[in-house]
Order: sequence, then C-alpha cells, then structure tokens
Amino acid sequence: PKVVVILGGPSAEREVSLSSGHECAAALREAGYDVAEVDAGRDLSARLQEIAPDVVFNALHGRWGEDGCVQGLLEWLQLPYTHSGVLASALAMDKEKTKAAYRAVGLPVVESVLAHKADVSAAHVMVPPYVVKPYNEGSSVGVYLVQDATNAPPQLSDDMPDLVMVEAFAPGRELTTTVMGDRALTVTDILTDGWYDYDAKYKPGGSRHVVPADIPQEIFDACMEYALRAHQVLGCRGLSRTDFRWDEARGLDGLILLETNTQPGMTPTSLSPEQAQVVGITFPELCRWMVEDASC
Ligand code: DAL
Ligand code: MG
Repeated sequence: PKVVVILGGPSAEREVSLSSGHECAAALREAGYDVAEVDAGRDLSARLQEIAPDVVFNALHGRWGEDGCVQGLLEWLQLPYTHSGVLASALAMDKEKTKAAYRAVGLPVVESVLAHKADVSAAHVMVPPYVVKPYNEGSSVGVYLVQDATNAPPQLSDDMPDLVMVEAFAPGRELTTTVMGDRALTVTDILTDGWYDYDAKYKPGGSRHVVPADIPQEIFDACMEYALRAHQVLGCRGLSRTDFRWDEARGLDGLILLETNTQPGMTPTSLSPEQAQVVGITFPELCRWMVEDASC
C-alpha cells in the first residue's frame, strides 16, 4: 500500500512535526510500505490528489494539523487517515473545552479561565501561582508561570493569541499515558531539573523518563484508567496521550489531567514510542498498526 506521511506545516510545532514525520516515514519503509513525505503547505490538497495514497499518515502537530482542519480536508478527499477525526481533534486541541468533557465523566482537573491577553498583562487574573498558556498549542510553546503575587503580571509576546488560558498551577510530578485503540500502554514519570519545557522535551538528555513509572500502584492504575476514559470521552481514534500532574503529598487527590494529545510526538525523545517499546511494540509495529487502523 501507498502511504503519504504529512509533516511540517505552519504551526509553532513545525520542527517537532518534521522530526516525528521523518521517523515515521523511515519506520513505515522498514515495515514494507511505499512511502512519500509531503510538507503540508497550501498545495496539500492538490499534492494528495496527485499522489492518491491508500492511507495518509498524519504526523502534524499543533494548529491546523492536530485541531481538525487537516482532518476535515482528508474527509473531504475521502482519504483514510491515522489518529483522531475532526471532532475529537478540535475538542482536544481546545484545552478549556477538553476540561468540560473531562468533568462530564468525573475526571479531575484544576480550575482555569480564558482571558484576553491585555487583561492578563494588566493585572493578576487569578491568585498566583498560575500558568498562562495558549489554549490551542502544544509542546509548551508560549507557557508562562507566575510564581507569586509579588511577580508582575506576565507580559505576553506578540505571537500569543488574543485569548489565552490562565490555569491554577498544579505542583507535582509529570506523568503520562498513551492509549493505543482500546488499550492504555503504561505510565511514564518524567524527571526534569526544572520545567518540562520545549528544550526538556526535545533536546537529547533534556529529561529522564522512568517507564514504567515507579509510583504507587493506585496512582499507576488511575493514570491507566483516566487516560482511557479521556480518550473515550473525547472520541479519539488510534493513538492519543494524556498528560497528568501528580502532587505526591496529596495521594490520589493530587492527580489531575492536564490535556490529551491527539497527535502525540513521535520523535526520538518522544514518550509514546518509548511506552510502546516498553510493552513490547517496536516503532515499525506501532506505525504499521496506525496505518491499519486508519479510516475516514
Ligand atoms: N505536542 C507534542 C508533539 C506532544 O504532545 O507530544
Ligand atoms: Mg500537548
């Protein structure tokens, strides 16, 4: 079968997507597929019609590629594609609406509000500590932490959207769980010296992953169950990865969901391929499963 890997694109996570896409394309070639790589530009529709693949492997991250836009185009072209469909992608990309969906099935989250950039920069819109972030970007692009009330309100950069999310800071460890279809794979505990920010995510050695996480069984099981429930309530398909914060001192009450990624990173430092590996699924096998699971 002929597979087109779409990668790159115009989002803030372009570089991450190029890395994910090259890795997946190489793995799919190794698994025996006829693979073409297409950088997602304005001519995407024409390129796809020209190549006429059997399946589109979506390796895009962030806006346009992860938020339902490209999924809509692929539906329109009637090309089977990997990962979630239009609605689940759009829903999961909006961190605020995601929380409403989580709450509806009893999944724990922290309080947050959407606010205009100008208001956020003028005064504290929430009692610190809090975090300001775009409600629709990934990879910690544009995340500001306000530690305490003596800090000035954050001066947000020009490329932040007009509407931003202000979220109570949840202290604790970074945990994450990948769901593959109807199966939660395992839990990773992400250890960093500071923030798990863009550099810690993608620089080799930027963070250390303990997988399976060395945490109490109760917390491990909760992550597995919550990730699956999140995948289901959002209506995800194929692969997704749900990120948690866990405040050890508070036990199970200290575990909250941050978000679900419908296009989890597939780079050499990414979490989902590593989790698959740990439970005995090689990277080419994972990519092959994703292609076989594709639909439209
Ligand atoms: N947004 C990045 C790609 C991730 O969640 O893995
Ligand atoms: Mg993300």
